[in-house]
Order: sequence, then structure tokens, then C-alpha cells
Amino acid sequence: MNLRKVGILTAGGDCPGLNAVVRAVSKNALAHGMEVIGFKNGFDGLVRNEFVNITKDTVSGILTLGGTILGTSNIANPFKYTLPPFGTPEDPKDLSAVALHNFKDHQLDALITIGGDGTLHMSQRFVELGMPIVAVPKTIDNDLSSTDQTFGFDSALAIATEAIDRLHTTAQSHHRVMIVETMGRYAGWIALRSAIAGGGDVVLIPEIPYNDDVIVNYILNRKRSGKMFSIVVAAEGAVNEKGEQAVARTVAGSTDAIRLGGIANLLSNMIETRTGIESRACVLGHTQRGGTPTAFDRWLSTLYGDKAMDMVLEGKFGYMASLHAMKMTEVKISDAIAKLKRVDPHGEEVRTALEVGMSFGSAEIG
Ligand code: F6P
Repeated sequence: MNLRKVGILTAGGDCPGLNAVVRAVSKNALAHGMEVIGFKNGFDGLVRNEFVNITKDTVSGILTLGGTILGTSNIANPFKYTLPPFGTPEDPKDLSAVALHNFKDHQLDALITIGGDGTLHMSQRFVELGMPIVAVPKTIDNDLSSTDQTFGFDSALAIATEAIDRLHTTAQSHHRVMIVETMGRYAGWIALRSAIAGGGDVVLIPEIPYNDDVIVNYILNRKRSGKMFSIVVAAEGAVNEKGEQAVARTVAGSTDAIRLGGIANLLSNMIETRTGIESRACVLGHTQRGGTPTAFDRWLSTLYGDKAMDMVLEGKFGYMASLHAMKMTEVKISDAIAKLKRVDPHGEEVRTALEVGMSFGSAEIG
């Protein structure tokens, strides 16, 4: 295929590794003599026709840079556009035709979309409208099926694990319970893996409903055995046995309006009241999404970006680059969005956590 011009955008929540993908896509495209443009702020740039021309200089020195040089948005949805002056949360507009028009006006041969679940859903809708799209799976949550790992996850995991390490020494010194709240939405990957890597005592994840009594008894048993401190790692989406989750806010217009958060404070109060042990909450929040990507994420992002551009050159539209057994492969975007990847409560990682003495705050699982 004789391709001339490719567009690229980064959408949804930012994460370490976005720039590394942009760099790899652009370097591959420029080496093939193609023009590259980057739409600003995710799909918002496609709607508003805000873009930058990408040259070798644009992508020089960005491999290790956190965030995204293109900007991003987890609110701008061309199919339900709520941003002024075109739409409002009360009166969302379908501006997909405008986005399509802008795509055609630039005489683009393809668009590479880099994003998570929401971005993939929008990408699939544009594919159905005839836009030639290749997607790259991004999210610290690691909740996308059809790929072994999303980029950004390893960096978030490293940050959460370091936080647990640091909280250990202060918990130990003060004989306290420290509750660490991680991100992850409806999947417990960041909490579970960082708790295993950091030696957390209790880990609460959305996939295994917790019970306050089990947590309290576990901490009191530790105290009886001479362990005067405990580390609780709680995913922001942890669910209690009544099915309740801590919701911090709702964001009108976002593909998923619910923003989880607040579980660490709730648990801290409950644990201190019921055990008599002084407790503190530590919410890691957006620190998990900021800063330099780990070596693994730089490697993975570069492979993803290069593969996505190869897929464009091969005309593999409607597909997402995917990691399978440490090798790059491709899957249909429609298959990738069919279901979220969540922790298997009966799987190997949960069993391992139990066997090294951790508790999931559940009478059923342990
Ligand atoms: O999907 C990435 C993520 O960081 C989630 O882990 C978290 O629930 C959400 O985004 C936070 O979104 P916002 O940046 O809008 O607060």
C-alpha cells in the first residue's frame, strides 16, 4: 500500500509510556517517508481539528518523559460530546461526523489511537463508520483482555510497591496500621501485585468482597503473635460483602462517570475503632500515573508503537496491537473490548498470596 499520512492521538487517563509509543509510531512512519500529525487532547483534537505536525525533532528526547506531549482527555467523546461551546453534560451532541470530516480533510490514510477501554470503544465505533484505525492498549489498570499487559501498568506497580516499602518502615516504627489505596478501577491488579511485591498483609480487591470482621480479626491475630503493625493494600474499587464501593465523585460526560476513591479513609476509621490500633490512610492517587516509565514500560511502549505502525503499513485496520507471551501480535478491537480482564479469585496469584500468609479480608477466600 502506498501510504502518505498518518494521524495519532492519546486518549483517556494519561500514564507513563504514552510518549514512548508516540515516538515509536512516528519514527517508523517518518522512516517510511510518511507525514505524521498528532491530534491534541485525545478525540477532542479530532473534533476541534487541533493538531501538531510531528517531525523527528518533535519526538526527540521524549522516550523517558511521563504524560503525553499531545495532551489527553477522558471526557471528550465525539459520540456524546459534552464540552463547550458545542455540547453540555445535559445536552450531549453527536459530533462523530465532524471528527470523520476532519480525518478526511487531512487526507489521512490511518489513525492510531492510544488508549484504554473507553478509547477502544470509541475507536470501534469509528471503525464501523469506515475510519481506518489501529489501536494501542494503554492503562495503568491492566484491565484489557486480549493483551497480556497494557503499557503503564508496570510503572504504576513500581510506584505502588515503593510506597508500600516506605510505609512499612513508618508503620513498624509507630506500631500502626497503614492503609494504602491504589487505583485500578474495577480490577484489582495494581493492589494485588503491589501487595505481593511489597509484602502487604491484607489486600482488598474488587473481585473478592471483603468483610470487616475478617480484616479486624486478622490484624488482631497479628498483634497477638507479636506483629505490632499491619499494611492493608486496598484497591480503590474494593467491594464489601454488601456490594458497596467508595465513590469519590461523578464526572459528567466521561465514558465511565464514576470516579472511585475514599476506601482507605473508611477502613482506617473502622480498623482504628475496632482494633484500638492507631491507623493512617495513604491514597496514592495520580502519583501512580505520573513520571518516568519503568524500563519494562519503555520497552513495551516502543514495541507497541512500532507494531501499530507496521499494522498500518499492512492495512490491518480495526485491530489492536497486543502482547502475547512476550511477543507482539494483533487482535480485533471488537474482541479486545468484549470483556474486562479482572483478577480470578480462584487463580494462581490469589492462591500464592494466601500461601504466603496474606488475607483478602474474606471468610470464603481467606
Ligand atoms: O483508568 C485509569 C485511572 O487512573 C483509574 O485507575 C482511576 O480510577 C481513574 O483513571 C481516575 O480518573 P481521573 O484521572 O479522572 O481522576
